[in-house]
Parts: sequence; structure tokens; C-alpha cells
Amino acid sequence: MSLTTEIAKRRTFAIISHPDAGKTTLTEKLLLYSGLLRTAGIVKNRKAGGKNATSDWMGMEQERGISITSSAMQFRYGEAVINVLDTPGHQDFSEDTYRTLTAADCAIMVIDAAKGVETQTRKLFEVCRLRGIPVLTFINKCDLPGRDPVELMAEVEDVLGIQASALNYPSEIGRGFDSLVDRRTNELLHFVRTATGGAKPADMTRHPIASDAAKAILGERLDSVTDALELLREAGNPFDVDTFRRGKVTPVFFGSAFTNFGVQPFFDGFVELAPPPGPRLADIPGGEIFIDPIETPFSAYVFKIQANMNPKHRDSLAFIRVVSGRFERDLVVKHHRLGKDIRLSRPNTMIANSRETVDEAYPGDIVGLLNPGSFAIGDTISLKGGFEHKPLPQFQPELFARIQPKDLTKRKAFDKGLAQLTAEGAVQQLRPWDNPQGDPFIAAVGRLQFEVMQYRLNDEYGVDTHLTPLPYE
Ligand code: G4P
Repeated sequence: MSLTTEIAKRRTFAIISHPDAGKTTLTEKLLLYSGLLRTAGIVKNRKAGGKNATSDWMGMEQERGISITSSAMQFRYGEAVINVLDTPGHQDFSEDTYRTLTAADCAIMVIDAAKGVETQTRKLFEVCRLRGIPVLTFINKCDLPGRDPVELMAEVEDVLGIQASALNYPSEIGRGFDSLVDRRTNELLHFVRTATGGAKPADMTRHPIASDAAKAILGERLDSVTDALELLREAGNPFDVDTFRRGKVTPVFFGSAFTNFGVQPFFDGFVELAPPPGPRLADIPGGEIFIDPIETPFSAYVFKIQANMNPKHRDSLAFIRVVSGRFERDLVVKHHRLGKDIRLSRPNTMIANSRETVDEAYPGDIVGLLNPGSFAIGDTISLKGGFEHKPLPQFQPELFARIQPKDLTKRKAFDKGLAQLTAEGAVQQLRPWDNPQGDPFIAAVGRLQFEVMQYRLNDEYGVDTHLTPLPYE
């Protein structure tokens, strides 16, 4: 298949949301509607059975045909090839999340209909805005009592500073939520509750909005829905794809990931509207050029490094995002920073717990490369060389600490662990200027980065550490 066709099918995105808004549930439903999961509900089972997974997706990996790395998951939805990037779902914040967003072509913002725009969503949205990443909005949990839909859209506009345009509108937000008005086709989409709850796709019927059937479904809600639609027509923002792709307007969809009501219209809208991988600006000596995904031969950059993914092998993987051209196994590429040629001989994605070798990949795809120390975050590799993809954002650390091994005989393992985890970008390492041999300082954007660091030094390198927070913030 041609490069142009492969690129046109790809949609590479990340979900941005505050914990508990429904990111995992929505991801799971994407797999359900793709036909990859026969039954949804593993999220709940996993939680009931005690959660010890490093990724929210680990529970999904047993199902056939879903390829998962700790960084991305790829599968088909109809004709589209979807790459979902994993953004860690914890409360705290890490630079890792920011870097992951650079690998996305667009983002889905999930908002809880009762809670509105929450802090973490705001921070993540800000990164999307700075990078010009288009954002689609899914207002979730419409099956529970929540806020007024128009008020929620106004909050998106006020808090995030982006125009919001409703592409559909709910019959209500609350237990009776059973239908959506598709504002582009003027139809009422009616969902039927089934005995399976949200485990199977929801049945949906379509009725012209002015039909008797639609009026009967809306019943006494007809007036309020008609008034709201009127208001949106008169005072709402118009929607067009170009403005959305320039990051100036977010299309808003309503639904309930849990019951599946509104999930399919959202996914279909997503595939229709989200951009395929496009050109990206790169640096050349003395200037910049656009790297076209079709015209420029293979190029990619490293956006994430992860050590010790398989405790048996103690290896490290470098995750690249393909930006242009066709990636093939055994390709010999130029490594910009090192100024030398390297062979990409063992590219991996992971399916279930076994790694699968990737033979080819296209712009938008994420590939894991075994990293014997040649890759660092931000590295560019390309077939022809001569340019460097834009550097990844660097963040001003906000928290500082001194770190020491509890057992001084473990110094060597401590130094090695710290060096490797710093190379991954887990934290930044600083040395006191007046005593470069002294105990290092570490710096991070979020507190959790320190905890993860200590945990991993212990788990992966066998070193228990003391951490002394420093007063500078
Ligand atoms: P996250 O990844 O964004 O953190 O959220 P996650 O999908 O894990 O969802 C958080 C909780 O919200 C889960 O409940 C999930 O079942 C529930 N949820 C997600 N979407 C919807 C929705 O559309 N409607 C309703 N009613 N609930 C939703 P939980 O309390 O963790 O577990 P449980 O209630 O399933 O036992």
C-alpha cells in the first residue's frame, strides 16, 4: 500500500483528563467498538482485583490483536489505524507526560459532566495549546447528575480560552440520558439500554429531529432541548475543520463512556475530524525546514526512554515517533547527535507480554528500539540526515532534593541507576558546584517523580535511598 494511503489512515492522539474523568473507560470502549474486545468491563475487574499495573492498559493486553508498548497502543477502527499514546494517569505531573504529547497529532480532552474543567486537564490543555495540538472534547458521565451542558461549554471557553462548538447535544444530563441531537444532521440519536450495561456496544436508532418519533423520545424534555439548540444556533460558535486543526475551536461531544451512549458518534467524529500526521518543522544549520511525511525519506525522533522493561534482560527501549517516510527493519540511519550511522535491527512493539518485531511503520506510528546506550531523549534519526527535529520542551524544575544511598557500599549501583534513570528523563540531576563529587541533587517538576525514582532505584538496582527535600521551589 502506498505511503500516502497509509498516512491518510493514521490518527495518533493522547487523552488528556483529570484522574477519574473516564480516560481508561473511554480507551476501553474504543477497543470494544473496534471489535478488539468482545466484552468491556476489565477496568472494573482490574480495580476489584487490586491494581498493580504500571500502565492503565496492562489489563487490556491479553486480548488478541492489540499491540501495546508502555508508550502506545495501535489498532484499527474501521479503515483508520489508531495510535493511542499513554499519558500516565496519576494525580501528579511529570515531564514524561509533556514529552508524550509532542508525539501526538491531536488530543481528546475528557471532562466529567459533574466536575467540569479540573486542574490536571487545565495543565495538559495548556501544553496542547502551546504546541498548537488540536483538541476534541468529550463530556463524559452524562448518565449521572451533572451540570448544564451550555454552562459546561462556557466553562471550557472561560477557563481554557478556546472556542467550544457543540457537535451534538444531550437530551439531559442525569439518569434519564438516552439520546443526543446530532447538530450536523439534525437527527436525534436514541440509545437503547440493554441488559449487558456497557459491556456491549449500545444499539442506536436515528430519527429526524422534527419527527414524531424524536418528539416522543424527548417527551417533556422537548422544550428545554429545543431552547438550548436555538441558543446554540444564535449565540454558539460555528465549527469548521480548518479552525479546529489550527487549535482555535474544540468540537464538543456528549456521552457516557460507561453505558456507551454517545461513544460511537464520538469515535466516528474523531476519525473524521482528527488530522492525519502532517508536516513538522525541523532545524537545519542556520534555519528551519518543514519535514513532509511523504516527501522526506524516513525520519523520527526519540520522545521516551524506558529502562528495565523486562527484568530478565535489564535492557532499555527508546521509543521513536515516525515523522516521515517508511520505517523498515534493518534500515541504516543517520544518528544526528552522534554523527554516525546505525542499523535499526531489532525494532519492537509489544503484544501481550512477548515482544513482536516490527517490519514496517509509517508516520504517526510509535516504535520501540532496543537501546544499548546510543539514544537519548530528543535524538533525531533519519535516512538522509541534515536536519534535527525540534528539541523537546524542557521544564523548569520546581522541586529539589538531595539523594543518598542508605548503604554506602551500594554506591556503584546507586550511581549507575541514577545515571540511567536520568538519561530516561525520570528526573534531572544536578551536582553541587562547590563539590562536584558530593551527593547529587535531583530536580523534578512533580513530587511523584521523586517517589518513582526511589522506588525504581530500589526495585531495579537494589539500592535503598534517603531523600532530603531542599527548601527551594
Ligand atoms: P480515569 O482513567 O480517567 O482515571 O477514569 P476511569 O476510566 O478509571 O473511570 C473512573 C471511574 O468513573 C470508574 O469508576 C468508572 O467506572 C467511572 N466512569 C467512567 N465513565 C463513566 C460514565 O460515563 N458514567 C459513569 N456512571 N461512570 C463512569 P470506579 O469508581 O473506579 O469503579 P466502579 O464504579 O466501576 O466500580
